[in-house]
Amino acid sequence: MAAQIIDGKAIAAKFREKIAEDVAALRKETGVTPHLAAVLVGDDPASAVYVRNKQRACEKAGIQSTLHRLPGMTSQEELLTLVGRLNEDSGVHGILVQLPLPDQIDEKAVLDAVLPMKDVDCFHPENVGRLMQGRPRFLPCTPCGIQQLLLETGVEISGAHCVILGRSEIVGKPMAAMLMQKAPGANATVTVCHSRTRDLESIARTADILVAAIGVPRFVKASMVRPGAVVIDVGINRVDGKLVGDVDFDAVREVASAITPVPGGVGPMTIAMLLRNTVTAATLSATKTGDTSR
Ligand SMILES: NC(=O)c1ccc[n+]([C@@H]2O[C@H](COP(=O)([O-])OP(=O)(O)OC[C@H]3O[C@@H](n4cnc5c(N)ncnc54)[C@H](OP(=O)(O)O)[C@@H]3O)[C@@H](O)[C@H]2O)c1
Repeated sequence: MAAQIIDGKAIAAKFREKIAEDVAALRKETGVTPHLAAVLVGDDPASAVYVRNKQRACEKAGIQSTLHRLPGMTSQEELLTLVGRLNEDSGVHGILVQLPLPDQIDEKAVLDAVLPMKDVDCFHPENVGRLMQGRPRFLPCTPCGIQQLLLETGVEISGAHCVILGRSEIVGKPMAAMLMQKAPGANATVTVCHSRTRDLESIARTADILVAAIGVPRFVKASMVRPGAVVIDVGINRVDGKLVGDVDFDAVREVASAITPVPGGVGPMTIAMLLRNTVTAATLSATKTGDTSR
């Protein structure tokens, strides 16, 4: 039987409705409107589309968004100056620096410069450390979106073997950190594979939940998926002008029990979680509660 298609677009729409309600409530209670400042350096068309989509989603949820566009030749110092200004601006609650940055700029230095309280992408070492220790301030957008997709689909995460393909700072590593937590919505047994992994195919076949985040079009074949597994495709690859994921969707959907499409799976959830983090940042700022230890 063909797999259930996990409709990320519909699930994200539900989250965005709730976020819009939270924004309205925060404004009513405190007079504060959440404000996301996006920084885009250069004119990479894909990055421009991502930022535009994020801004549109902000507007629909009642979140203010401002775009700071800098030329591709911008120096690291100039970018750091802008980040410093946004850090100091009490009217800005979240800062998003769209990646990738041009070669002359040290990405880590810039992400480290974002104030942890405004780090809605959850890239700052302080926020990553908190996540690792199970007391997050913000949850990283893509992994959090994936976790919510699994929960909304009724997938049992606790005790499941979750195999993550890819160990990037944006997806693979934080995804592993989240799913291995001793916490509700987690408690998985996690294996992370990467380009040096020996016999990746056999490991992938042991997964109850397989998350593919490697950036190689249609890498995951049906032979790599255990019948009945849940497959989450994070990949966004452009092939012959079409968007395809890291999973060979047509073949894998015949083996898996549930699968996310590309587009319309993980992508919309990433944006919804960014909005949620921006509201969290504005709430923390309005209520002066920086520490959200649990
Ligand atoms: N839907 C969304 O919202 C969203 C968000 C973020 C990213 N993405 C997409 O997700 C994909 C991954 O993004 P990313 O930023 O995590 O990528 P990345 O930083 O390029 O990392 C890719 C990871 O995959 C591993 N890898 C690459 N080729 C491999 C192979 N043949 N076999 C095994 N492992 C391999 C790499 O291993 P090494 O570490 O050994 O090099 C690395 O850990 C991309 O298509 C990206 O566009 C989507």
